[in-house]
Amino acid sequence: MGFSDKIESLVDAIERASAKNLEEAEQFRIKYLGSKGVFKDLFNEFKEVSSEEKRQFGQKLNQLKSRAEGRLTEWKSSLGEAEISGPQLDLTRPGMTVEPGAKHPISLIRDEIIEIFHAIGFSVAEGPEIEDDWHNFSALNFPPEHPARDMQDTFFIKDPNGGDDHVLRTHTSSVQVRTMENNEPPIRIIAPGRVFRNEAVSARSHCIFHQIEGLYIDEGVTFADMKQTLEYFAIAFFGKSKIRLRPSYFPFTEPSAEMDVYWGLENELDYRITKGTGWLEVMGCGMVDPAVLTSCGIDPEKYSGFAFGMGLERSAMQRFQIPDIRMIFENDVRFLKQFQSAL
Ligand code: DAH
Repeated sequence: MGFSDKIESLVDAIERASAKNLEEAEQFRIKYLGSKGVFKDLFNEFKEVSSEEKRQFGQKLNQLKSRAEGRLTEWKSSLGEAEISGPQLDLTRPGMTVEPGAKHPISLIRDEIIEIFHAIGFSVAEGPEIEDDWHNFSALNFPPEHPARDMQDTFFIKDPNGGDDHVLRTHTSSVQVRTMENNEPPIRIIAPGRVFRNEAVSARSHCIFHQIEGLYIDEGVTFADMKQTLEYFAIAFFGKSKIRLRPSYFPFTEPSAEMDVYWGLENELDYRITKGTGWLEVMGCGMVDPAVLTSCGIDPEKYSGFAFGMGLERSAMQRFQIPDIRMIFENDVRFLKQFQSAL
């Protein structure tokens, strides 16, 4: 076959060619435009032909190659789109569901308590979980070597550079100190947060838990103000209006008390929750010790105030009937998603 015939039959072949899918388009590319394809051969042959034929066929050959490339590009774009929107779009498949997240039970309790105190003018304060001795103990009237430090088994953090050691805060009372150091009264804050104690983990207690601290400092704040605030809280949070304050001891308050709520003893669950007494222990509280005010730069002659601190786990366990405190920290989604309805 002469060169001119080859070109003529190639014109036909390229016009007749078709591709039903990307694979066939690729076969076309290999056959005609590949490194061992028809055009490669023809261009090699073209080098050998007479200058007369070169003049005659040069342009035609180039146009034909462009035409082949053009067809290939067309197929690729139309078939490519079809393959993406075609076979992958199956309208008979069930839809993809997006599962809504759920708040953690501790967050639910925390947010509810924040809301209750927010309504009477308390705002949220925060502090670090890794604390120094001053904020966790000394400023709160736990002098070094004082036996009251043993009330809270502490995780100590050694400073590898020989600086002062730190602790994982054992209570959120450390935030009281930071707030008083940095603010002038009147102060009305609550401080929710995670705390740590070096205690054996069991179904009832954990080495990590959550507390909310409260602090109110102003001129002329009395024990009666504290009692009324706590009563308000008991009604808002537990729906119970009867509380009692039992004498207690904390180094940072004087006098100190434990607040109990009268829960009732109507059924077996009440018995279990209140250990048969009808009373639920809710929090520690008291009037801020003047020594603590002085440590934090507040004049105890001018100002007074009260503080309180409560754990969140017990309330969450009781509210949501969680039988084992460890579930709160395991983050098993089968557990966590049960609280969706409580949102
Ligand atoms: N920090 C105490 C604890 O962890 C709880 C507490 C008791 C906080 C009395 C207070 C308070 O602010 O006045 O056991």
